[in-house]
Amino acid sequence: MISVRNITKSFGGVEVLQGLSFDVPRGKTAVLLGRSGSGKSTMLRCLNLLEHWDSGEIEVDGRSLGGERLADGKWRRWSSREQAQARQHIGMVFQQFNLFPHMTVLQNVMCGPRKILKKGVEESRTIAMNLLEQVGLADKKDQYPVFLSGGQQQRVAIARALAMRPQVLLLDEITSALDPELVGEVLEVVRDLKREGLTMVCVTHEMHFAHDVADEVIFLEGGRVVEQGDPREVLVRPSTEQLKRFLARFHAQGVMAGKEASL
Ligand SMILES: Nc1ncnc2c1ncn2[C@@H]1O[C@H](COP(=O)(O)OP(=O)(O)OP(=O)(O)O)[C@@H](O)[C@H]1O
Ligand SMILES: [Mg+2]
Repeated sequence: MISVRNITKSFGGVEVLQGLSFDVPRGKTAVLLGRSGSGKSTMLRCLNLLEHWDSGEIEVDGRSLGGERLADGKWRRWSSREQAQARQHIGMVFQQFNLFPHMTVLQNVMCGPRKILKKGVEESRTIAMNLLEQVGLADKKDQYPVFLSGGQQQRVAIARALAMRPQVLLLDEITSALDPELVGEVLEVVRDLKREGLTMVCVTHEMHFAHDVADEVIFLEGGRVVEQGDPREVLVRPSTEQLKRFLARFHAQGVMAGKEASL
């Protein structure tokens, strides 16, 4: 579903993505891991066309993203309208919930189908209510975001992204701003989406979650893939020194306790 080939990206002369390549098959979940500054968010932002990369190519569902190769070999970057169209198929949820504060929960979830997909009010409402049901928040439909817990707001943000029927969902540290007791309810929603076969790319620092939900873990350092593979393999028996060092901190906290036994 997603193919990333040799992506490079610099900010002010510093190359933060240095030839990044990976694939995510349809229906699979990839988890990007790496220290702060390793390029995880920048990569997700490229996948959502919030950032333009300098070289390399990304394909989503067999189609080149962000532009097209012309007959003469030149690259034509998509217009902002074409980019906006493509972005509809790629949902993204951020660390900060970014709900519209002046809209109710239902209005927040309805507004994509209504305004962007141009669906009727009734159809948009049905789509939104089904999704609110799915994330367990149908009873909060008339509430304003400020009256919801962080976990509830994040579940609304997921429902809002899903309302656009995305082919791919990108999740950037969606539990990092939550109190620990609220993390579980949000991750449970993501587990459900995986069971339904949605293709996802997640950035997380929740190693347990990465272990349980990832079909493939992709460990970045300095904007490159240093190690990748099945989480039950690479998180338990990392082969590179870099990943060993990265994971040591989590092992020291006992986060991965018991995972060896589950192999
Ligand atoms: N818009 C920008 N302008 C300049 N530098 C940027 C910009 N966005 C990101 N960077 C730099 O690119 C590098 C990678 O940042 P990125 O946000 O992708 O890291 P990350 O892996 O998501 O880190 P974290 O775990 O802290 O979220 C960092 O050094 C960051 O300072
Ligand atoms: Mg980040």
